Amino acid sequence: MGQTLSRSLPNARSYAANARSKGAMSTGDYGHTALVSLGHARHSSSTMPAGGVADDRRLVLVVEDDLSIGRLLQGLLEREGYRTIRVDNGEAGLAAIDRDRPDLVLLDVGLPRMDGFEVVRRIRADGRWQSLPVILLTARTRTEDLVTGLDAGADDFLTKPFQHPELLARIRSALRLRQALVRMQQANSAVAALANAVEAKDTMTERHCQRLANMAARLGSRAGLSVIELEVIAYGALLHDVGKIGIPEAILTKPGPLDEHEWKLMREHPIIGERICAPLGAAMAFLPIVRHHHERWDGRGYPDGLRAGGIPIGARIVGLVDAFDAMTHDRPYRIGRGVAGALEEVQGEAGRQFDPDLAPLFIAEIQGGTDLDLELPPSALLTAV
Ligand SMILES: [Fe+2]
Repeated sequence: MGQTLSRSLPNARSYAANARSKGAMSTGDYGHTALVSLGHARHSSSTMPAGGVADDRRLVLVVEDDLSIGRLLQGLLEREGYRTIRVDNGEAGLAAIDRDRPDLVLLDVGLPRMDGFEVVRRIRADGRWQSLPVILLTARTRTEDLVTGLDAGADDFLTKPFQHPELLARIRSALRLRQALVRMQQANSAVAALANAVEAKDTMTERHCQRLANMAARLGSRAGLSVIELEVIAYGALLHDVGKIGIPEAILTKPGPLDEHEWKLMREHPIIGERICAPLGAAMAFLPIVRHHHERWDGRGYPDGLRAGGIPIGARIVGLVDAFDAMTHDRPYRIGRGVAGALEEVQGEAGRQFDPDLAPLFIAEIQGGTDLDLELPPSALLTAV
């Protein structure tokens, strides 16, 4: 594969690097008694007090029955700009999560009645708190305790006595991870909505995008791409034709070959698609797939006439799979052909329309069936569409 399968996909993780925690001011002391009397509901990481000024400092819930350690933690966190609430048992902790919606939970393991492991299990059992960061605090140092905590669903584990800089670094890290997850979920929703929109517009290609996402991920896997790259390819495959939203319906559904003017308009769809996806923060990694999925290995494709290895690998994969899918399914102007005939055409176009290294991998993948031990990413996205 070597040079041909050069990795030209940007790293999908890079956007997460910009995530950062906020906060610069101190806050009041919310002890256990004060917490019980707190009546306000909190619906996000920012609050709107009576004065009308939003407070977007992160809220950390400290669940710790040792008063001196609890106060120490609160003081440390508040000096770092977090707001804090402290409770001294697991039941009160669960109630505080429900009522005050903290951004992160510091949870002592050795709590009375319900221990920290059980508390974190209950947090994870509630669908609303799947991504709430939970850091366990304990004096226990046995590996079994660590494993039990992580199995229960904790994000991290800190043993007492802990170093303050380490605690603060773990908190920042857990908050960054959560922010990245939230952004990913938002991006997934936007991608799913856009993919649905394009399929609603072009009913002849219904399910086409999902088939494509699966096939493209299978081919990418056979080509040795990483899970992150496969995820980017699956996103790109789902949205490759989103630009058709901007193409007149009469052209998309014309029951015959397009004339020159109509083709000119149709060839705009990769550029329109790129414009539509550009505002999606997480979309940056798959924009090249949307723009270049109609480029050809020999340079005679569109919109930019890129050739060979100059075409991003994800676009080469989606372009091949897209062409195969079009060959094997009916279109308004022609009846789909059989798989064997389509594979012959893929073989014949290797080095012309298609990447000559990808074509045989694709043929082997189709002929060999789905014998790859592959969990197709992004599974959540694919089921959401
Ligand atoms: Fe297309």
